[in-house]
Amino acid sequence: MQITSFKQYEEDYKKSVENPEQFWGEVAQNFQWRKPWFKVLSWNFNEPDIKWFEGAKLNITENCLDRHLAANGDKPAIIWEPNNPEEESVIYTYKMLHERVCRFANVLKRNGAKKGDRICIYMPMVPELAIAVLACARIGAVHSVIFGGFSAKSIADRINDSQCKVVITADGAYRGNKQIPLKDVIDDALIGCPTVEKCIVLTHVRTPVSMLKGRDVWWEDEVKHVNDICEAEEMDAEDILFILYTSGSTGKPKGVVHTCGGYMVYAGYTFANVFNYQPGEVYFCTADIGWITGHSYIVYGPLSQGATSVLFEGIPTYPSPSRFWDIVEKYKVNTLYTAPTAIRSLMSYGDDPLEGKDLSSIRVLGSVGEPINEEAWHWFDEKIGHGKAPIVDTWWQTETGGIMISPIATVTPTKPSFATLPLPGIQPILVDENGNEIEGNGVMGNLCIKFPWPGMLRTTYGDHERCKQTYFSTYENLYFTGDGCLRDEDGYYRITGRVDDVLNVSGHRIGTAEVENAINMHAGVVESAVVGYPHDVKGQGIYAFVIYPDMHGEAELSKKDILQTVTRVIGAIAKPDKILFVSGLPKTRSGKIMRRILRKIAEGDTGNLGDTSTLLDPGVVEEIIEAAKKL
Ligand code: WTA
Repeated sequence: MQITSFKQYEEDYKKSVENPEQFWGEVAQNFQWRKPWFKVLSWNFNEPDIKWFEGAKLNITENCLDRHLAANGDKPAIIWEPNNPEEESVIYTYKMLHERVCRFANVLKRNGAKKGDRICIYMPMVPELAIAVLACARIGAVHSVIFGGFSAKSIADRINDSQCKVVITADGAYRGNKQIPLKDVIDDALIGCPTVEKCIVLTHVRTPVSMLKGRDVWWEDEVKHVNDICEAEEMDAEDILFILYTSGSTGKPKGVVHTCGGYMVYAGYTFANVFNYQPGEVYFCTADIGWITGHSYIVYGPLSQGATSVLFEGIPTYPSPSRFWDIVEKYKVNTLYTAPTAIRSLMSYGDDPLEGKDLSSIRVLGSVGEPINEEAWHWFDEKIGHGKAPIVDTWWQTETGGIMISPIATVTPTKPSFATLPLPGIQPILVDENGNEIEGNGVMGNLCIKFPWPGMLRTTYGDHERCKQTYFSTYENLYFTGDGCLRDEDGYYRITGRVDDVLNVSGHRIGTAEVENAINMHAGVVESAVVGYPHDVKGQGIYAFVIYPDMHGEAELSKKDILQTVTRVIGAIAKPDKILFVSGLPKTRSGKIMRRILRKIAEGDTGNLGDTSTLLDPGVVEEIIEAAKKL
């Protein structure tokens, strides 16, 4: 199933469009099924109702673990690099990983979890996180992994939305020189989570935690009570594999639902192709398993292909900005898949951290999460790839399950800051505001996809209508991505960023409405408006315009209070970079905030604000501009 020439890409692409069912049916033959499908695809984008590999039975963990045991049981599946480089790294072979997953799957059963139950995972980047994810899949429980940076309230909202029965966590996490008290956060969250019956706690940082009788149990104790034999649960191709919450333009995050069969095929196929993975190579994706990139390209994609995947607990700059390069050298990493924000941050330290580092093992580089600017692209290419490693700029989303538009390493000619061409099976289309297709090359529009692919979301958990409204109602018969896009003269795609009220901060999706809701929870705040602005390292920064009438002259303190509030409500990742206190917001006569104007002010581009005469109070704009200059 690996594409090895551009000609083959073109042929496969053609076939995938002309005969998608045959194309994906053949790709799916490369996986292990308990029972074959009777229909490859049935679909309808209006409902939406999408089924792939109908009637087929499988368990994704048999594809990620069992099937590799005979020939590759002793091959490293996961190499774990701890936060502290002085600490021992850990290598799990496929055999060991299989054993641990089965054992922990039995722990889940022992604690009352069964097929279909939802399980929340809130853990550091340790091998046990991958083990917990796979153990859920083993027994057919639905995992909902929550990134370690979210607050107790965010966790509680997510747990309650999907009514999780079990929570898996750790005493704490290390992030650089910081410690995060994960169990404390979970304890706060669980005060408001009546559906949670059990909480399994891994010892990691050895900080004291409170263990509630009857609810909380230690991972280390539990695994002693079970054996390591656990037959995989037989799953229907369309049974839910996992839920992953993501921000949208409304205040409430939605639970994106992926199912077993299609997701497996898509994650595996795209991994093998985009990175041109070769047997024996070491692959390092720096994402966190709390995000979709970690799900698809640390766990499921690589393991389904029998790859060796590096799992790194720490951050790029600890203990020094050489850390990634030390890891590359230590494990002779062949593929490095990271984010533009990390590249820009490392770039800012100059060449010193690269001094004496042997990066000669690198063969393929990857970027994901946000548009990569040309400067960062060239730095990555020259300093890290030494001009020899193709960069795959992979565009995709939580909702798409896997990479959609991207070069295929060694096959597709690359172009700085372009995601280049759609993968086989993906049919992008650009539309104007009214949903009319924009044909030809050298054009820009809103990016939609007009035909289903196996990895696409099936619904948003507990609220199918929301899925329909968000993705399938803006334009008839199209999946709307929320991204703007350029198709250049060569037919190459370049993603220009979100066209909705979603920010991309350091590659993390954050809804402006969510941040506004959080700010507005502060007692002194009357109203707020949040927009993004260009930020050198984060890509986008968060700029908040806040109405706070009775401040008693303590502006700096009030700002800190607001930051604290946002940290409590969402998590530190959503903290505004700039807060500007204003007496009013530019609104239309119907009361709608004119974000376009605020965005311009935040960008420092106030030369041409367009027509402000329709505003309720045009004077407020001048006042905001003046205040912004002083910030
Ligand atoms: C953005 C991350 C430009 C885009 C996998 C998308 C990108 C959102 C790229 C999804 C890229 C992701 N170039 N923009 N290569 N990759 N994006 O759900 O705006 O966390 O809609 O998935 O990130 O973010 P998400």
